Amino acid sequence: MFVDTHSHIYSEEFSSDRNEVIVNALKSGVNTIILPNIDSSTIKAMLDLADSGPNMFIPLIGLHPTSVKEDFKKELEIMEYWLNKRNFLGIGEIGIDLYWDKTFINEQTEAFRIQIGWAKKAGIPIVIHVRDSFPEVFEVIEKEKDESLRGVFHSFTGNLEQADKVIELGFKIGVGGIVTFRNSGMDEVVKQISLQHIVIETDSPWLAPVPYRGKRNESAHVALIADKIASLHEISLEEVGRITTHNAKQLFGF
Ligand code: NI
Repeated sequence: MFVDTHSHIYSEEFSSDRNEVIVNALKSGVNTIILPNIDSSTIKAMLDLADSGPNMFIPLIGLHPTSVKEDFKKELEIMEYWLNKRNFLGIGEIGIDLYWDKTFINEQTEAFRIQIGWAKKAGIPIVIHVRDSFPEVFEVIEKEKDESLRGVFHSFTGNLEQADKVIELGFKIGVGGIVTFRNSGMDEVVKQISLQHIVIETDSPWLAPVPYRGKRNESAHVALIADKIASLHEISLEEVGRITTHNAKQLFGF
């Protein structure tokens, strides 16, 4: 059994065959899929999907860093409205992305900090998006850290030193399709991270693992990611499923 801890299966990319994709996931042993939000435009589709399968889907609420623009305070108001209206098991995805655009670095940092405050208040974990921004993200986390703050560095692509820092901060490491990419170097990093710190994810529809690299990703493929981790750690696929599922349940409290 696997948990896909990060999937945007509610997005338009799945509008023509979403049911089939869900059946594929179940057939591959994926019985829980966590749905991080992007911005105000994605909430309805995400919650509709979550309500269609409350035993399978766990929606999160949050504003994605690439959706942080001049109007981010208005966006945050909408997130906060939903946070007060419904019981969410986490805030996400949030963070800092300096790869696409550095224009709103200050706004991104402020939105990140505000949403961490919500998570601390609610006692729920955060799902962090980091892209070209490890120093900036670590700086915010170190400032905001208290006994209750926990979460996952989703789709982790850092080096071993950064992985150690994530673990030291008490956070989990989200391992996705990149670990299967030749020359990504992530295999060497993941090999050295104890399984107790790892959760698995697809980040569907992006980052499909080998042999589907470049194609649309789907939750069934977490089995391929788990298989890669099993071979790196020289343990069985079942063991990877058992430990990473335990980690996900412990982190999100389901
Ligand atoms: Ni995502």
